[in-house]
Amino acid sequence: MKIAVFSTKPYDRVALDQANENHGHTLSYFESRLTPNTVSLANGFDAVCPFVNDNLSAPVVEKLAEAGVRLLTLRSAGFNHVDLGSAHAHGIEVSRVPAYSPHAVAEHAMALILTLNRKLHRAHARVREGNFSLDGLLGFDLHGKSVGVVGTGKIGTAFCKILAGFGCEIVAHDPVPSEEVRALGARYVEFDTLLSSVDIVALHLPLTPDTYHLIDSRGLAQMRDGVMLINTSRGALVDTRAVIEGLKSGRIGALGLDVYEEEGDLFFEDLSNTVIQDDVFARLLTFPNVLITGHQGFFTEEALASIAETTLHNASAFERGTGDFHRVALTEVTPQGATGQD
Ligand code: NAI
Repeated sequence: MKIAVFSTKPYDRVALDQANENHGHTLSYFESRLTPNTVSLANGFDAVCPFVNDNLSAPVVEKLAEAGVRLLTLRSAGFNHVDLGSAHAHGIEVSRVPAYSPHAVAEHAMALILTLNRKLHRAHARVREGNFSLDGLLGFDLHGKSVGVVGTGKIGTAFCKILAGFGCEIVAHDPVPSEEVRALGARYVEFDTLLSSVDIVALHLPLTPDTYHLIDSRGLAQMRDGVMLINTSRGALVDTRAVIEGLKSGRIGALGLDVYEEEGDLFFEDLSNTVIQDDVFARLLTFPNVLITGHQGFFTEEALASIAETTLHNASAFERGTGDFHRVALTEVTPQGATGQD
């Protein structure tokens, strides 16, 4: 198939070209985002391969249909940026990548914990300046600490295995408990009990209307003083303003984020020559005990290879007409952000 790949970064190209050796599609790469202004680039293509910040609103989808596009092969799990109704109305199929390496995100969550605890980000900066003082770098043994894992699906389970290796006490909460996680010695408790009984809270659940601002001022009030909060799932699981108050009061002792409520305006781009207009985000950056990464949890060679392979497999299966691809059904409409940015 002739596939137009939008929002292409160099690493996308490498992974897709490699996966395409087994598929033989004709891939054309566009660095620009898919928008009403760039949609004409898709003229003459059979399929479009967008990323999470591409615009797939009804007017864009209509233009894609006029251009002859028959498939949107999303290189993401999330599809909340696609107007599915419009796609179906125009006979355009939508496919996605429902799962890829859970280890990538689980390991990133642990990297945030270790870095925050042992202040590696600060130690690195100090040593480069010839400052070998240890004042302010005091950490704690992770061994024996209790970690609350909210959501024990694919990523949460991988994370619990890492915790077990570190000798942590695992306290879990999930409406669907996992026997695999229980077998690691984890104890399932109610959400409020988890919040009040752990040293570290890690979020590994999807964003839905029910989980929006799951961690708010009420939740923070239940947590232990000096708790570490880790969010690699979705920004809006956390009420950022409440968290800033928690940091100021000392209720939160350390905060590790790979996601942010308003990340759509910031992440994945080099904005180092511009002035950040988001004052809430700018405030977060001022705390010495806050570590933010720009949604890179998924960003490992293995995960990229897996995403590329599934993306192109979906296109191949669509072309063959065998139907064995990860189709997004019209009924699979999720709330904004529920499957989000990955
Ligand atoms: P999954 O679907 O395998 O697991 C999610 C788990 O959360 C399920 O066991 C579900 O029962 C549970 N859950 C749902 N509502 C809950 C609630 N109210 N309280 C506690 N648990 C609840 O999903 P997976 O693959 O483990 O991904 C988890 C999240 O990680 C995704 O929703 C996504 O937001 C995020 N993610 C982040 C990435 C990154 O690059 N930072 C990459 C991929 C995913």
